[in-house]
Amino acid sequence: MLTAAQNELLTLTGPDTDMGRVFRAYWQPVLLSREIEAEGAPKRVKILGEEFVAFRNGRGEVGVVEPGCPHRGANLFFGRNEHEGLRCVYHGWQFDVGGRCIDVPTADAKVAESIKPRAALRALSVKESCGIVWVHFTDGAGEIPQFDFMGLPEDHYFVSKKLQECNWAQAAEGGIDTAHFSYLHANIEDGERAGLMPSAGANEPPELARYRWMIEDSRPRFTVLEHETGLVMCAARKADDDQLYWRLTQFMMPNHSMAPNSFPGDNHVGNTWVPIDDHSCWIYCYAYNPERPLSDQERHAFTSGFGIFSEVDDEFVPVRNRGNDYLIDRNLQRYGNFTGITGISEQDAAIADSQGFIADRTRELLGQTDLGVVRFRELMFEAVDAVRQGRPPRGSETPRSYRVRSGDAMSAEPAEALQVVQKRFGELGGVNLSVIGR
Ligand code: FES
Ligand SMILES: [Fe+2]
Repeated sequence: MLTAAQNELLTLTGPDTDMGRVFRAYWQPVLLSREIEAEGAPKRVKILGEEFVAFRNGRGEVGVVEPGCPHRGANLFFGRNEHEGLRCVYHGWQFDVGGRCIDVPTADAKVAESIKPRAALRALSVKESCGIVWVHFTDGAGEIPQFDFMGLPEDHYFVSKKLQECNWAQAAEGGIDTAHFSYLHANIEDGERAGLMPSAGANEPPELARYRWMIEDSRPRFTVLEHETGLVMCAARKADDDQLYWRLTQFMMPNHSMAPNSFPGDNHVGNTWVPIDDHSCWIYCYAYNPERPLSDQERHAFTSGFGIFSEVDDEFVPVRNRGNDYLIDRNLQRYGNFTGITGISEQDAAIADSQGFIADRTRELLGQTDLGVVRFRELMFEAVDAVRQGRPPRGSETPRSYRVRSGDAMSAEPAEALQVVQKRFGELGGVNLSVIGR
């Protein structure tokens, strides 16, 4: 439970807020690369409550600049994207990707030269990597976080995004809270709660049996480990024959998570929750396989909505969304799955939205399965303290510490989470791992 003041501190990320200052200490995804073409249509973007226009010039470079033309305030979203940069369509002033004014056709050459330095647009720092355009609010910021998939060949990963119509923090808490899989993502068989995959009977492999174990044990025991960049949430459930089934989730500051549900060889998936404003966020989603290219069939599945990927329209708005109650089907809820909503991603979205535009954390009753959520909040408040004291928050200056991995593991019972993580991931568990809560 949080006080009302703590809840505001956690959730509000506008320019004059403490958490807004925390977010502005990190690189953040702002667009998918495929959303803007060279000399193509500029795109309106809103991030952390501030509006910008993004465009790609004829050389392929990306600019993310304030929208108001310094001449008389026309919106550059309507601008003409020419080879050298964006030209305001009102009187023709032109700006490059760094926001510099490069042409003032309304004045003679001498006057134009005196206007240009005064007519610079505010421009964010931009870097592009693996299909994502990243921005930083500070000039000269260092490297973007080096996620596990970023060193892989292009055919090994897939990136997309989806709109979430609630505050970023409760959506992120949904990714951290893996206990909910026992209910929210359950199927219904013969009127009873059942696994997402049908049980395979004798000699069932752990890849399938895990769905049964998640149904049979709805009280996973949580241990939270801490590392240089964030947390590893370790949830242990009873499996068959005195074994434990572990789901190991990574959280990286301030808004990235990597989901469990992968044994060695499986695809890995991750999310980044980027506040648009205090009532909505973009969720960037990625899937990758460290060992092999993704198949056409897998890419097709991700594009159509599968796992953490929603079925979205051309503007990345989920087809099943807040406005249509996620097309909930009460017949499906009675006979098919626990929510009556189709799609894991849509089930997660529905329940996060249902907590309100900003969840009221002053009226919660938290328990042992919420340990990851509690530690996430503590870590965010630790970052606020750091920024208030003028120190860089955790991870913001260690981009290489983002190369961590999540997944599933089996162990004998009893077992220590720290050993399970180290055995499963080695160095990819995280640097300087230690136990902070159980
Ligand atoms: S308002 Fe943009 S050039 Fe005049
Ligand atoms: Fe979920």
